[in-house]
This record gives sequence, structure tokens and C-alpha cells, in this order.
Amino acid sequence: MLRTHTCGQLTINDLDKEVTLTGWVQKSRDLGGMTFVDMRDRYGITQLTFNSEDNVVLRSQARELGREYVIKVSGKVIERSSKNLKITTGEIEIKVSRLEILNPAKLPPFLIEDETDGNEEQRMKYRYLDLRRNPVRNNLILRHKMAQEVRRYLDGLEFIEVETPVLIKSTPEGARDFVVPSRMNPGQFYALPQSPQTFKQLLMVSGFDRYFQIVKCFRDEDLRADRQPEFTQIDCEMAFIEQEDILNVFEGLIRQLFKNVKNVDLAEVPRMHYADAMRLYGSDKPDTRFGMQFVELNDIVKGKGFGVFDNAELIIGINVKGCSHYTRKQLDELTDFIKRQQIGGTGLIYMRHNTDGTLKSSVDKFYSEDDLQKWSEAFNSESGDLILIMAGNTDKVRKQLSELRLEMGNRLGLRDKNVFAPLWVLDFPLLEWDEENERYHAMHHPFTSPKPEDIALLDTKPGEVRANAYDMVINGTEIGGGSIRIHDRKLQALMFKHLGFTEQEAQNQFGFLMDAFEYGAPPHGGIAFGFDRLVSIFAGLDSIRDVIAFPKNNSGRDVMIDSPSIIDQKQLDELKIKTNL
Ligand code: AMO
Repeated sequence: MLRTHTCGQLTINDLDKEVTLTGWVQKSRDLGGMTFVDMRDRYGITQLTFNSEDNVVLRSQARELGREYVIKVSGKVIERSSKNLKITTGEIEIKVSRLEILNPAKLPPFLIEDETDGNEEQRMKYRYLDLRRNPVRNNLILRHKMAQEVRRYLDGLEFIEVETPVLIKSTPEGARDFVVPSRMNPGQFYALPQSPQTFKQLLMVSGFDRYFQIVKCFRDEDLRADRQPEFTQIDCEMAFIEQEDILNVFEGLIRQLFKNVKNVDLAEVPRMHYADAMRLYGSDKPDTRFGMQFVELNDIVKGKGFGVFDNAELIIGINVKGCSHYTRKQLDELTDFIKRQQIGGTGLIYMRHNTDGTLKSSVDKFYSEDDLQKWSEAFNSESGDLILIMAGNTDKVRKQLSELRLEMGNRLGLRDKNVFAPLWVLDFPLLEWDEENERYHAMHHPFTSPKPEDIALLDTKPGEVRANAYDMVINGTEIGGGSIRIHDRKLQALMFKHLGFTEQEAQNQFGFLMDAFEYGAPPHGGIAFGFDRLVSIFAGLDSIRDVIAFPKNNSGRDVMIDSPSIIDQKQLDELKIKTNL
């Protein structure tokens, strides 16, 4: 070792020790005949002092040190005159007797401090420098701790970590695949796994009984704050279980993570049916840190001559407590918000429950005081409340009001990052209608089992069949999802038929799985958590980017290594790939 101690280690108990430390120059300052240098490593910061009176040459050497120089110093631990009690090393300093520059450094393009002046682009281009900053490093340390805790918990329950292949075959799991050409099989491609779904099911057929893997998954989809093209799942599968077992085991995992990593005691995770989540929050991942549940108004507002309501499939609203004072301008702002292209609302109706008890709506022309009284009762409104109402096609208006609800939650500070509201959402529909392709596709994936009591509906009302599928949501983010699987060849074949596969297509793509089901497949099911999302929630961050060491930007590029990139013609020729760019 080049050092005897780290920069975060020495305290007042080490006074007079002769030590050697290594690290980076955080900053230096000259005061009279003294130079003070803050030296940093992963563990902390230690102050170094160089005094002209002791050694003029050494001090002038110290004055030459630039930010981020890598140095090695030897000296004696002494007590500091002006102490910094905020850091563990803040009561001591090193009176340096030897200084060695291990490597000088160019001036970094941005400040390597907690608050940096670097913009996103610079921070990504020089990610190795960004990773020197405490907040970013701490996110990765948190990630490490969480991964260890996950392993500890699952290992304790006899789960076995098995690695599954990364070069696999294209599978339809919602997103597009990333593909890799095969040199030895010209014209043929591997696909990178969107998840190890089929492999973990095969491991159940193999009798592994309890599997997990902290595993990279790849999806070629449009990127958002909570989506990266490569991301990590805590992927799990169990045999001989029912849905209830999965919910219990993995609620236990989340609870242990919160307890041991954040010292937060989670209450029992509430459960909500998908249909209720959509009805009350307009979302299958409701943020339950705050109420503001939807109230349906069809019965009390229709038939009064107001066309917008009369012609709407669904009229719903929320009660925003204490906001009756919202000005016209603020209400216009909200209308603009819901009319934004991404949201697509057409208009916003409101009613103020004024502090003097009077009710005043934006559609008073059509509704009497008695009518408004009924609205007030439906919303349980009190003096000072503001009711916001939207109308339209059921699915659309629910989504739109859900956005408005979240916006109001933000405006009113109801989405505190230090409050954690986990939720199980259960009984998802098995199939989802795909407008574009005019056919059903699997809402979760094609291996999810329908609820046995709903199988009969597959032929008549496929959209109403519920699945044994569940998601875990925390603070409005879907952090995990899974299902009980089909383990019977016939039922699996029937599912493929309903998803529009011909028998031949199903056999070509998933013959291996259906064959396996004929060799003694146990009942099984599982779940996968989005590890990056889970860490970002623990870290209180909006984006998963800062919990990933080397993330991609919004265009899917790694700007540091400049990838993706063009490859040599020779490589293309070898792969027998022709491009016509
Ligand atoms: P699903 O597709 O729901 O299920 O994925 C599981 C979890 O992975 C996270 N996730 C992502 N995180 C970051 N970036 C992405 N692009 C991304 N896509 C998904 C989410 C999600 O809840 N094989 C099934 C699981 C199972 O059935 O056991 C699956 O992959 O947090």
C-alpha cells in the first residue's frame, strides 16, 4: 500500500502519529506563511499544512499543486486550531514533511464539488470526473449497499443466483430488441435480453425452485427520466407458490431494504385492484403519498344542457384542498397545463367552495345552487376547497386528470421525497387492445396466466380477462412487476393463439418453452424489480441516470466513449452486412 491511512480515517485519537496519505488535491489556499491543502479520496477529506518556517522548499512545492493533482504525503497528525466539526477528520490536520506528486492533472472542465458548475453534457463526457463528486459517488455506494442487502435477503431464503445468457433470441416483450449480428451465421442475429423471462422459467422446470439474478436488461425504447436502454433488474422466480407467496416474500425484501439501508420502518404494503387504481387515480401506478382521489360525476351533472358533460363518456374531478383562492390566472395556467400536447385535455371546469361557504362554478349558466350543492356533497368539499373537473372518453380523461392530480400534488408540496408510499397493484388485465395494429397484445407478457375463473371469457370478452399479475409501485413509480405463469403447454398455446400467433409462429419462437412444459413443469411465478428505479427512489432522485455509473443520454448515446459508432467496412464485410447510408 502506498498509504498508511485513508483521507477519511484520522481523528483526534491519532494525534502525533506519523502517517502517509494519498489522494487528490481538492483545493489549496495560502495564508501568510502557510499553505493549506484539502486532500480527498473516496473516504473523505484531510487537511494538510505546509509551513514556510519549517521548510521553505516544501511549502513552495505545495504552492505549485493544482486542483486534482494526485499526491502522496507523509507527516504528523496534529490538532487543528480552527476545527470543522462537520467532518470526522475536522479536528486534525497533517503537518507535512514529505510531498510527492504521483501525477499532475489538467484543470478539470467543471468544479469537482458537491455543487458543480458543470452542465449535463460536460458531466457525462467526463463522467469519471463527475464520479469523483460526493453526491454521485454516494449514489453508487448506496446502490452497492442495496445490491448486497438484496443478495443477503434472497440467499437467506434459499434463492440461487444463476447467470442467464446475454446473446439470446428475439422475444416479443413490448419493446424493440437490440440485435447483434452473428459472424458465424451470416444473415442471422442474436438479440440482447429484454429480461431473462424464459430462462428463469426454464430454471423452474429444471427444479431450481428459487432463482434470482441482478441482471442487465436491454430495451430499444424511447428514453425518459426513468428509462435507460440498458438497465438492471432484480429478477426472481419461484416454483410451487401462489401469488400470495410472491407478494409476501417480495414485500419482505422491500421492507428489509428500507429498514437496513434507510432505517425506515415500512408499514404493511397496501393492495389495490387495477380497476380501482384506474377509477380512483386514473393510473396503474398511483402516487399514494396524497389523496385527491377521483370522484365520478356522470349521475349528477348530465342532463342540464351543458353539452361538454352531456356528450362525455366520463366526467370526473378532484378536490384540491385549500385552493379556492386560486386566481383566474392560476386557473388559466392549469387549463394550459392540461391542454399541452403531451396531455391532450380539451378543457377544465372548476368550482370554488369559497371561504364564506358559497359555491361558484365556471359553468353557473347551466347549474343552479342546488346542483352545485350536490357537487359539493360528492366531493365532500369544505370552505376553501377548489374542485377541478374534466370530461371525455374514459381512458383518455382518466389519464389527463391523473396528470393534473400529480401536478397539483407537486404544486402543493404533497410529494415529499422522504415519504415512501409503496403499493401493490393487483389483477391487471391479461390483454390490452393495440389500436395501431388492431389486435390484442399481452399487457404483461405472453407467459402470464389468466385468472382460472376468467379463462372462459378469452373467446367472448378477451379484454375483460384478468391476469394473475401484480406490480409494486412506490410514490407513483412502477418499481417492479411480475405474474404467476402458465405452466401448461395447451394453455400457453391458447394464449399465443389469442395474441395472433399462428401455431407455426408460436412453435418457431417459443417451441423450446412449450416443449419444456411437457417434461414436468412445476407451477411457478415471479417478479422483477427495476433496480435503478429502486435505488433512485432511495436516493431521492427524479432520474435513474445518477444511480448508474456510466449512463446513456436521452438519445441513447454514451457521450464519453462516443457510442454507438460507425464500424469498419472490414467488420461489416465479415458480418455480411450491407448498409445503404
Ligand atoms: P417488466 O417489463 O415490468 O417485467 O420490468 C420489470 C421492471 O423493470 C423496470 N424497467 C426499467 N427500468 C429502467 N429502464 C427501463 N427501460 C425499464 N424497463 C423496465 C421497471 C419494471 O417494473 N420479465 C418481467 C418480470 C416478470 O414477469 O417476472 C419483466 O421484465 O421497474
